[in-house]
Amino acid sequence: MKTFYVTTPIYYLNGDPHIGHTYTTVAADTMARYKKLRGYDVKFLTGSDEHGQKVERAAAEAGVTPQEFVDGLAATFKEIWQIMDCEYDFYQRTTSPAHVSSIKKIFKKLYDQGDIYKGSYEGLYCTPCETFYTDKQLEDGNCPDCKRPVSKISEECYFFRMSKYQDQLIKHFDENPDFLLPLSRRNEMLNNFIKPGLEDLCVSRTSFKWGIPVDFDPGHVIYVWIDALPNYATALGFCSDDDSDYKKYWPADLHLMAKEIVRFHAIIWPCILFALGEPLPKQVFGHGWLQYEGKKMGKSLGNAICPKALVAKYGVDAIRYFLLREFTFGPDGNFTQAALVNRYNADLANDLGNLLSRTVGMIDKYFGGVLPDLSESTDFDGDLIQTAKTMLGKVEANMDKLAFSDALNEIWNVIRRTNKYIDETAPWVLAKDESKRAQLATVLYNLVEVLRIVSIVIAPVMPNTPAIIREQLNITSGTEWENAGDFGLSPRVVKVTKGAAAFPRFEKE
Ligand code: MSP
Repeated sequence: MKTFYVTTPIYYLNGDPHIGHTYTTVAADTMARYKKLRGYDVKFLTGSDEHGQKVERAAAEAGVTPQEFVDGLAATFKEIWQIMDCEYDFYQRTTSPAHVSSIKKIFKKLYDQGDIYKGSYEGLYCTPCETFYTDKQLEDGNCPDCKRPVSKISEECYFFRMSKYQDQLIKHFDENPDFLLPLSRRNEMLNNFIKPGLEDLCVSRTSFKWGIPVDFDPGHVIYVWIDALPNYATALGFCSDDDSDYKKYWPADLHLMAKEIVRFHAIIWPCILFALGEPLPKQVFGHGWLQYEGKKMGKSLGNAICPKALVAKYGVDAIRYFLLREFTFGPDGNFTQAALVNRYNADLANDLGNLLSRTVGMIDKYFGGVLPDLSESTDFDGDLIQTAKTMLGKVEANMDKLAFSDALNEIWNVIRRTNKYIDETAPWVLAKDESKRAQLATVLYNLVEVLRIVSIVIAPVMPNTPAIIREQLNITSGTEWENAGDFGLSPRVVKVTKGAAAFPRFEKE
């Protein structure tokens, strides 16, 4: 069986999760579900990045030990993933003994083979970003990422010989045009960072304690990114006694993240893997940032963007749908309450919700809840059936390139086409004419079939809605992924059960 291994970043545990974190995790979960439905043996990793000065400071501010601090937040993140229906296979924590032991081995191996060496470093350090910058990289003297002041630091440290791997990395980019996407990020990395020259990287710190110690040199802790990046491999047992998952699932098929950490994944991580003689992930994808009502997300926005509150109000499938439909996966996006309510009302309440309730309602009203085995075509069937049958290929083509919004749009094109088919065929007119019973039954049967197909293809994004559709229409077969390419699979006799509105409308606040 073909395998598929997808990852999110492991999130820093220095604050509560917000909808920005949720964006990456929902996208990864959607890909995991999609690949599973297509028959892959899938593994999905998320987790938490629990070491470093940022965490040490946040714990001190909270008056607890760093371990207590990260234990609490790891539980909060896991709760959010449960609420978001993100079903990961691995939750990797960098404080877990197995990860710590593997990282120590990796560090020692690189040291023994001369890829890590001791030197001293003088540089400009941004503590919140845990990154050193050169003068040139600063913006108005501040960190180019978070725009906060940097401080001059001089310390003895270990270096990773990254410069040695520059040519190999350029060759890898050249030979693998899809290694880093979207294209804009690939160009940025190649032209602004890789081609100008890779410098050796300082990979240990002596200024704080909360990290994995360098066993052979007490006082040094391993740089948080060298601790974090290999998590994707250590979670599979790399450098442990049981590396069977690693053998089976590595290299990862897809590392997902937002743009600010692409540099670490597309430069440092590949160089580490080159040094270890291990294969590189097949693809790194850096999507854009979500803002909230035009503002950068962070602690100050608090509850407004708490995924828990949003799900409590709109339901998990609606939030997952909105995240992946509203924003093109790649550029930045602006999350607004108005856009959420508009999208919810238009696509979910009106288009999908109405199609379901009208279908069930009409079968109930015109046939007492049981669609009989009668059939006679109408002039409008051909186009509807053709549109529905050709959707699957388009959805797959878009999902395969992470174009979630376009994939969903293809599905909604069919849903909207079907609502138009109801207007065209006017079942309420057919119902008045006893000689049109067979046509009426056909029209309603076609609606059931579209909803069966829709219930299959929305499942990766909306894991709970398929069951609602199938329950009301009593669909128990023809629900495999590939069945979405066939029309007419449901038995002709359909017994419906009226249910509550799947997506009740929201009034704008
Ligand atoms: N700990 C590192 C990652 C190490 S991976 C080996 C880190 N963590 S983080 O908590 O800051 O999370 C960064 C990731 O969270 C982003 O790359 C992105 O995937 C997600 N997002 C956080 N805020 C976001 C937005 N506002 N918008 C979109 N994604 C966001 O960096």
